[in-house]
Amino acid sequence: MPLVASKEILTKAHQEHYAVGAFNAVNMETAQAIIGAAVDERSPLIIQVTQTTLKYTEPDELAALIKVLIAGAGIPIALHLDHGRTFEVVMRFLKLGFTSIMIDGSLQPDGKTPRSYEQNVEVTRKVVEVAHTLGVTVEGELGTLGQIGLEITEELGALTDPDQAVQFVEETGVDLLAVAIGTTHGLYRGKPVIAHDRLRAIRSKVDIPLVMHGGTGTPDEDVRAAIELGIAKINIDTQIRVAFYDAMREVVHKMEAAHEEADRRGEPKKYDIRAMLGPARDAMRACVAERIRIFGSAGKAL
Ligand code: 13P
Repeated sequence: MPLVASKEILTKAHQEHYAVGAFNAVNMETAQAIIGAAVDERSPLIIQVTQTTLKYTEPDELAALIKVLIAGAGIPIALHLDHGRTFEVVMRFLKLGFTSIMIDGSLQPDGKTPRSYEQNVEVTRKVVEVAHTLGVTVEGELGTLGQIGLEITEELGALTDPDQAVQFVEETGVDLLAVAIGTTHGLYRGKPVIAHDRLRAIRSKVDIPLVMHGGTGTPDEDVRAAIELGIAKINIDTQIRVAFYDAMREVVHKMEAAHEEADRRGEPKKYDIRAMLGPARDAMRACVAERIRIFGSAGKAL
């Protein structure tokens, strides 16, 4: 099945009151885990890559790999740029055939300093103009999420204003809107307080699919309520990394014990990195599948 635009996947989710998970991939094992889980669950999927991954691997190498996996999957999948920070970065990913992109105009390219509303509109509209000629879905962000290591100030961490959201969607033409409703990227410090009333107010005025960032650690009851109130895309990154890490750590501990034993016996030690990556991939796959079931998208890839 060819790649699809995320708008196609999310319009259906929005109408039928479920959400599609958008999971972050950084290499072969994580992409296999994410796509494998969606295939197992017969779920539509958004697989996403961040621009910071550019520092780790060339995006064309990763995109080629993910496209091969998608081609064999037999379910609708969108390939999405998560948190593109500049027009130039977005253009680079469009050239690679991404079918969905996020331009995060809420923050400056440093990913820390807030952009003004006007600056946000300007960069988002410019991206929409190009992306729409290619049939690519555009996600914008209004309001800013809490972020690890950043102080929450009045501007930063500000919840999305419903009236401004209406204006933003009209002025930019975005297809999807990421809203700040109290979720945070990464692990929460305490129990999160999700602003359902704010989400309800946004939904009553804006009729495009809404996006929840910072899905990790958001309690399931809040996730279900948010889906009922119009969230159609949920971003999950940290939680699946934790699953990968924990499984790998367990294997490494066992390998170290086996190495000590080999030393005692005077035998050669074994270093099979597949024995580390395989269980980590399996654990991530199980974690993605569990989220897909919670989001209600299992069985929706018909
Ligand atoms: P988490 O790492 O909290 O799951 O957030 C992911 C995200 O929102 C990516 O855009």
